Amino acid sequence: MRILTLPEAEVPGELKLQVAALQHQAWPDPAGPTAAPVHDPALHPLSLLLLDGDRVVAALDILSKPLHHAGRTYAASGLSAVVTDRAVRGRGHGHHLVTAARTTIERSGADLAIFTCDRELLPFYERAGFSLLPGTTLIGGTPEAPFPSDQEGFDKLTVATFLTPQARHHRPDFLHTRIALHPGEIDKLW
Ligand SMILES: CC(C)(COP(=O)(O)OP(=O)(O)OC[C@H]1O[C@@H](n2cnc3c(N)ncnc32)[C@H](O)[C@@H]1OP(=O)(O)O)[C@@H](O)C(=O)NCCC(=O)NCCS
Repeated sequence: MRILTLPEAEVPGELKLQVAALQHQAWPDPAGPTAAPVHDPALHPLSLLLLDGDRVVAALDILSKPLHHAGRTYAASGLSAVVTDRAVRGRGHGHHLVTAARTTIERSGADLAIFTCDRELLPFYERAGFSLLPGTTLIGGTPEAPFPSDQEGFDKLTVATFLTPQARHHRPDFLHTRIALHPGEIDKLW
């Protein structure tokens, strides 16, 4: 097994189609899987693929943008479209890839990684070094069309890891609050 790390736009078409097929397993789309990029290029999408030979067994994307919060600006990243092939789930592939993504984000110099996850996946992300931000809502979308993680019908938790001394120092600013991430219309809640 090896991990291939590439900007989303540079992932070879054959591998990109396999990633799209895994995403389609998890989040079926009537249009079906395509090799086209799915993320907003403004968020600098970086794809991590866990490969068994030429076969993609798990994939995720790291998205990044400046985050303005409580009077400061942070370099923030988040995980998006984390998926393992249904045929090989429960074997640690997701853990392996998410742990590698955390290291990649840390080495990029980002201040923090922050994203939302389904409630039942909290232990999965905790094992990979992320922690719950209790009472915190992430506001996706745009200032004009906000997309909050606590909207009706969602059961999302906000998780994070604080990577730089400045981010660690200001961690209390991220608890029991609303954070306007605003990644845009394409990756509404990255
Ligand atoms: C979440 C996911 C990527 C995990 O991949 P994986 O390769 O199976 O991960 P691992 O083998 O490292 O860890 C599996 C653990 O994840 C947790 N987990 C995964 N899905 C879960 C679910 N729906 N409910 C509760 N726990 C779950 C369990 O703790 C599981 O441990 P177990 O195997 O001992 O039961 C995979 O289940 C998946 O692709 N799910 C569909 C897409 C998705 O929901 N992505 C996350 C978006 S936030």
